[in-house]
Amino acid sequence: MDNTNSKNWDNDHFMHPWEGMDDIGQNDRAFIEASDGVYVTNDAGQKMLDGPAGMWCVQVGYGRDEIANAMAEQARQLAYFSPFNNTNSVATEFAREIAKRTPGDLNHVFFTTGGSTAVDTALRFVHFRNNLLGKPTKKKIISRQKAYHGSTYLAAAVSGKERDRLWLDKPDELAHFLPNVNPILRAPDQSIEEFLDEKIADLENAILELGPENVAAFIAEPVLASGGVIVPPIGYHKRCIEVCHRHDVLYISDEVVTAFGRLGHWFASYDVFGIQPDIITCAKGLTSGYAPMGAAIFSDRLIADISGSDGKGATFSNGYTYSGHPVSAAAGLASMQIIEREGILEHVQTITPHFQERLQNLSNLPLVVDARGMGLMGCIECSYDPDHGSSLARDYELGANIDAKCQENGLVLRPIINMCVMSPPLVISPDQIDQMFDVLEDAIGSVD
Ligand SMILES: Cc1ncc(COP(=O)(O)O)c(C=O)c1O
Repeated sequence: MDNTNSKNWDNDHFMHPWEGMDDIGQNDRAFIEASDGVYVTNDAGQKMLDGPAGMWCVQVGYGRDEIANAMAEQARQLAYFSPFNNTNSVATEFAREIAKRTPGDLNHVFFTTGGSTAVDTALRFVHFRNNLLGKPTKKKIISRQKAYHGSTYLAAAVSGKERDRLWLDKPDELAHFLPNVNPILRAPDQSIEEFLDEKIADLENAILELGPENVAAFIAEPVLASGGVIVPPIGYHKRCIEVCHRHDVLYISDEVVTAFGRLGHWFASYDVFGIQPDIITCAKGLTSGYAPMGAAIFSDRLIADISGSDGKGATFSNGYTYSGHPVSAAAGLASMQIIEREGILEHVQTITPHFQERLQNLSNLPLVVDARGMGLMGCIECSYDPDHGSSLARDYELGANIDAKCQENGLVLRPIINMCVMSPPLVISPDQIDQMFDVLEDAIGSVD
């Protein structure tokens, strides 16, 4: 297909996320034009396995008529109406179905337009609640280095990927960042248990230094996703929530990536890590990426102590034109039904050991610094100089070289600088897992 025009239009008019200013207007991005199952097809007609499931989101795979039909029917019946003073039955049903699957009393679903707005909503609610409770100073949010919580001003302010912040401002007074929880960073003579103790002490010391009367919440991804699939030591989450609750600090579990099956469960907080957060944020897999939607989910307890006679006549003045969008809700419900009917959570649990084994096998390659993952999330961190690290430019170059080789051989990868991150559609088969890792292994092996 000759798409010279489209390429020009893309360069002239479509400003992309993380747009590089050096080469803006001169890019040669591949056009992805078609899809089926775990595969996408580019404009040259090449079919490629989708390693990152779009952007950690296409849980049930591509080309699902059932979702497309549900969306089309909903658009015909009621494409949109304002959620501010009215409601609609599809979003209501979806909220109920989500609440049935959340841990404990997380029953209040605030629909948003994506993950960033879900995080924004959670943070604004925490501040709102403390104002109502007469704790106006309790506003600081504790986050972690390498965390990614989104691109709105507030969500970016609690995101800790320093390379994303080189040229952008943030409100310094809002967030406090704890050191990286990646166990590979521990000293050679430090045991994993000692490292865990240190990370828990980091949290408690931060709360004490800032003053519990000033700290509102701790926000954490169960597994840090865009930061490079960082899996904290076993027991980390449970001990963190104990510290938080000891100091009246709320625990926000950012499950934008981990919810809806990525770790083999609807939500990972309780089923994988045994914790009952005060707030969960989610998006992406909520609709399998078929339509934009996110949610901040609040516990009954958080609502109870600021509502009714304790509500002081206040309004939580936060919301979006598209909160509870009927077409997105229809997509979400259909995706949820597929996950349930096809036993996709059980499938993820069954294939995870194979995925993780293939991932670990790559750690023997010379360029590989670390191979880590959990569930259907994996990261291969590479370096031209594994012992001494490399410059940012060299890291970008290495990631791009591996990516190019993978694309040539039919695998879409999404390098985060020098980290090859994989989070395929959850319906991937063991053979397709092999195909993915075979291509990646060849690609890493062929780069010198
Ligand atoms: C953990 C986490 N939170 C929030 C976000 C932001 O979501 P969105 O891009 O839908 O705004 C992301 C996006 O990758 C994420 O990984």
